[in-house]
Amino acid sequence: MSNIKTHTFDAVIVGAGGAGLMAALYAGKDANVAVISKLYPTRSHTGAAQGGVGAALANVDEDSWEWHAYDTVKGSDYLADQDSVDVMCKDAIPTIVELELMGLPFDRLEDGRISQRRFGGHTNKNTGKPVHRACHAADRTGHMILQTLYQQCIKNDVNFFDEFHVVDLIRVDDTVRGVVAIEIATGDFHIFHSKAVMFATGGWGRCWKVTSNAHSLTGDGAAICLRRGIPMEDMEFFQFHPTGIYRLGVLITEGVRGEGGVLINNEGERFMEKYAPNIKDLASRDVVSRAIYLEVADGKGINGQDYVYLDIRPETVNYYNEKEGDPTRIDRAYIESKLPDIADFTRTYLGVDPVTEPMPVQPTAHYAMGGIPTDVDGRVFLDTENTVLPGLYAAGEAACVSVHGANRLGTNSLLDLVVFGKRAGVDMVKYCREAELLPLPDNAADEVIAEFDRLRNGSGGVKPIDLRKQMQLTMTKNVSVFRTEEMMAEAVADLKEIREQYARNIQIDDKGKQFNTDLLEAWELGCLLELAEVTAVSALARPESRGAHARDDYPKRNDAEWLTHTFCLKVAEGEYRLDYKPVTLGRYEPKERVY
Ligand code: FUM
Repeated sequence: MSNIKTHTFDAVIVGAGGAGLMAALYAGKDANVAVISKLYPTRSHTGAAQGGVGAALANVDEDSWEWHAYDTVKGSDYLADQDSVDVMCKDAIPTIVELELMGLPFDRLEDGRISQRRFGGHTNKNTGKPVHRACHAADRTGHMILQTLYQQCIKNDVNFFDEFHVVDLIRVDDTVRGVVAIEIATGDFHIFHSKAVMFATGGWGRCWKVTSNAHSLTGDGAAICLRRGIPMEDMEFFQFHPTGIYRLGVLITEGVRGEGGVLINNEGERFMEKYAPNIKDLASRDVVSRAIYLEVADGKGINGQDYVYLDIRPETVNYYNEKEGDPTRIDRAYIESKLPDIADFTRTYLGVDPVTEPMPVQPTAHYAMGGIPTDVDGRVFLDTENTVLPGLYAAGEAACVSVHGANRLGTNSLLDLVVFGKRAGVDMVKYCREAELLPLPDNAADEVIAEFDRLRNGSGGVKPIDLRKQMQLTMTKNVSVFRTEEMMAEAVADLKEIREQYARNIQIDDKGKQFNTDLLEAWELGCLLELAEVTAVSALARPESRGAHARDDYPKRNDAEWLTHTFCLKVAEGEYRLDYKPVTLGRYEPKERVY
């Protein structure tokens, strides 16, 4: 270990998206903290979140945090823990005000208060009608949150290690001692020795072929935890956002439908009227994604293909608004000011101007509801008894609190980042005050260095890109919007074979040290493969349909037996143990979801 540079901090935060930066701001107030990120912080995927962050400010419509909680629980298909949902929806209001005071440039109403728009599944509990709850900065809300938090971190002298790729957690029995990272520019290994570690590394949408997730979303933190004996919770629930750009998967915000846009099939029919008669295109995402699949299966995809149209043309929106007694009328200027990014994306990627043409869209792998199990203070659980591993934290998409259950409401991901990132930061300070810095073991980095040597020197002739494609194909075919036992069993078998190829025959081209992205991507592929396997194994074991886990062979939700969280623990290479934990209910008794 003598040639490995060691850094010492009270706490290290892995990942510089919204959760990591919010945690750093709070932990940094009273502890010596470092943020380690494989990207330059403002390139983190939080920046891709578009339409808004949910909070019941009631600036436009009557609203309350309890209604927000109800929508979150209903959207989750009753799998969310209701005590955690209450914390998130209540904390939402002061947290948005806090972001505003930090300087976040939210859009404004004429009277100067924060502008809010409608979003899927956000309703008035009395009338069932959509409410304006998504606080937004045009369709760049995540971008603005990320920039604001980064500026605050810089102002508050947070330590950053940019383009350092964390590849292992140093865990000794039931203590954490830090992490191992590679400095991307040099290829050198570094050890970050600390009392506490937090993973805020985001999701793993890159397991699928069509995804809204950036190339970097490879589930590193979750996979590292899985390898170090942490179970993964509720991995079978992966959200497909209904409106990704056809074939590319790039997100077209739900805010388009919030502003009045509608989904149209090849017959020109506004088909969501059939599936969700009350809130139509603003039903929750699982419902809308399934509707698109069903339309396509019924031969009503555009030109018989596997996509539909998302239509925000002023003449369409104004027609439906007038029909429904909504006085709002939109025009080109309105679209350009409220939805500038998506207009830019569709013009650039499709040559489609959304003011004059409808946009071709299809469901796109978007968000992991499951992940590293935590409590509301980001403390990581080792088992279904809620045993905490002291000093280990997770927040954001990498974590499962659980507030999203089987299907997340739009806008609750940005909210989850800021609320639970902050709470984890506050708790880390308390923890670091009491905890001792325990010594590093002699062999802290040996195992991961050996794995990198294997990847660098492998000569079996199998390229990572080919295995990545095979994984994405089987996940897209078999563990997608609709599933059956046969499909998921095929995915498990395919993934086993791909994992074995990865273990025996991987070969990369670049043997160098500096900026070796070939090597790092090979390592990231190992993370994706394990998380894909955990997803398929967890899904295969749940014989019911709930939220994003829709089974043709078990079409009904089964609350009597399956109102439970799945915990999937890796016990050996390719071997997993499944345990279950009851959902924490509260004010809202599970009932059939009607939108
Ligand atoms: O549609 C969107 O703007 C995405 C938001 C979200 O995933 O919460």
